[in-house]
Amino acid sequence: MSLASRIMDFFKKKSEVKEVEIIAKQKQEKMGKLSARQRIEEILDPGTFHEYDLFVQHQAEDFGMDKKELPRDGVLTGTGKIMGFPVCIYAQDFSVAGGSLGLAHARKITKIMDHAMNLGLPLIGINDSGGARIQEGVNSLAGYGEIFYRNTRASGVIPQISVILGPCAGGAVYSPALTDFVFVVDKISKMFITGPEVIKTVLGEEISMEDLGGARVQAEISGNAHFYAESEQECFEQIKQLVTYIPWNNRKKADPFPPKPPKAERNIANVLPKDNTEPYDVRDVIQALSDESKFLEIQKYWASNIVIGFIRMNGETVGVVANQPLVLAGVLDVDSSDKAARFIRFCDSFNIPILTLVDLPGYLPGVDQEHAGVIRHGAKVLYAYSEATVLKMTVIMRKAYGGGYIAMCSRHLAADFVFAWPTAEIAVMGPEGAANIIFKKEIESAPNPDEMRKQKVQEYTEKFANPYKAASAGYVDAVISPEETREYIIHAMQIGSNKSVENPKKKHGIPPF
Ligand code: HXC
Repeated sequence: MSLASRIMDFFKKKSEVKEVEIIAKQKQEKMGKLSARQRIEEILDPGTFHEYDLFVQHQAEDFGMDKKELPRDGVLTGTGKIMGFPVCIYAQDFSVAGGSLGLAHARKITKIMDHAMNLGLPLIGINDSGGARIQEGVNSLAGYGEIFYRNTRASGVIPQISVILGPCAGGAVYSPALTDFVFVVDKISKMFITGPEVIKTVLGEEISMEDLGGARVQAEISGNAHFYAESEQECFEQIKQLVTYIPWNNRKKADPFPPKPPKAERNIANVLPKDNTEPYDVRDVIQALSDESKFLEIQKYWASNIVIGFIRMNGETVGVVANQPLVLAGVLDVDSSDKAARFIRFCDSFNIPILTLVDLPGYLPGVDQEHAGVIRHGAKVLYAYSEATVLKMTVIMRKAYGGGYIAMCSRHLAADFVFAWPTAEIAVMGPEGAANIIFKKEIESAPNPDEMRKQKVQEYTEKFANPYKAASAGYVDAVISPEETREYIIHAMQIGSNKSVENPKKKHGIPPF
């Protein structure tokens, strides 16, 4: 082939690719979705996407596959930048054989995953696929296995982000489940292990795909999704935000931003209600502490009795774990324990200091919780905080009772700094319950039991429901006013920026999974 015909051939191939992209765009548009290429281009900074393995083809021979050329084998892979941060990325193309995953498709994904690991870069995977390519049989399953293996190896080494922008069915769901953050979009994302047809055949139950595993279900009920958006564009904005808060890999810290004060209208002194039994929104405290009062909340709609997410303080990323008195009085239960524990482990893996804001009556009592394994799930919080060697700062705002006090990053789980507001109540249990137990005889034998109960509750409150007992034992480092909190935390972060503590040498621990 002459040089001229080689160049002609190159341009012919390029124009064929463009044609395929136009068809893909049209097919996806009909389903109310963007094409794989559009998605990548909208997530990445303009002009930064470099695609690889464009010409990879499958080697399958059965069911007429030998005659089928599948453009890019149904997946785009490459590198690019988000707000200047480098990332590796792939996007399944549903317009090609339903984005189904055959061996070549999987190997393109595992190659970009290996790239992300070797280069120490975050990995973003966009899922839009009918699952294992049926015609490729066990080779498709092998492909999934090789992805899961890499997801697991990469866990805690590079941040992994999954974006569900179409079906993600069958075993395919396990790759996102192994990654750190899952994004879903209303009416577009569908995640399930067994589809509605199988459910109908096996269980005789009718359910729509939306009700089974739509975006809202995954964000609100199952907790599989960390971010929910109304549109693909909103989802891409969320991804861009997230990437700015996290480091490229576990050897780095998140890049700092220019320090900014919180917005003036957020007055931390006014958040706590006068009556200590009244709820309040802990997000008001978080926003009063954070630079520009910005807060990127994670798993906002699931287990909302605990609030987790990222803020910046003095320009540095901080992971926040906060009880939410607005929901179930902020108790720890099965789901909120899972939510907190996983986030703590993410922060610890990626050198993000953890700020814990405490206000909870304890673990949620009840048969349902006991039977659902609140012991096992609750233990995850203890494990995650105890294992974390990153800087740990705790502020006890109000209630810190019983196991809840210990679990929420107390001094006893090796918190580096524990501060308490004057409103803190740190004790084995709330004054009512405590008085009823320890003064049972006095109350019962009193001429006016109600009056006696009130008196004993008062006595207990004065003695124990305050921060000073804990402070006198050294469990609390300083009793500070709400207005002083931001300054104390920023100081702690500066003092603790070189913290270096190692866990005992071991292959790995055995957390209560
Ligand atoms: C091969 C597939 C495919 C698959 C879809 N297609 N899924 N090809 N293998 N798994 C093809 C279709 O043949 C069709 O090709 C095109 O993709 C679009 O599919 P439609 O069914 O027309 O689209 P739609 O009506 O939108 O339905 C999408 C869908 C449905 C809900 C995803 O296709 C579906 O239910 N697929 C199977 C989902 C599933 O059960 N997957 C699990 C597989 S087992 P043409 O040529 O007509 O355009 C699995 C196990 C993995 O994944 C285990 C790993 C541990």
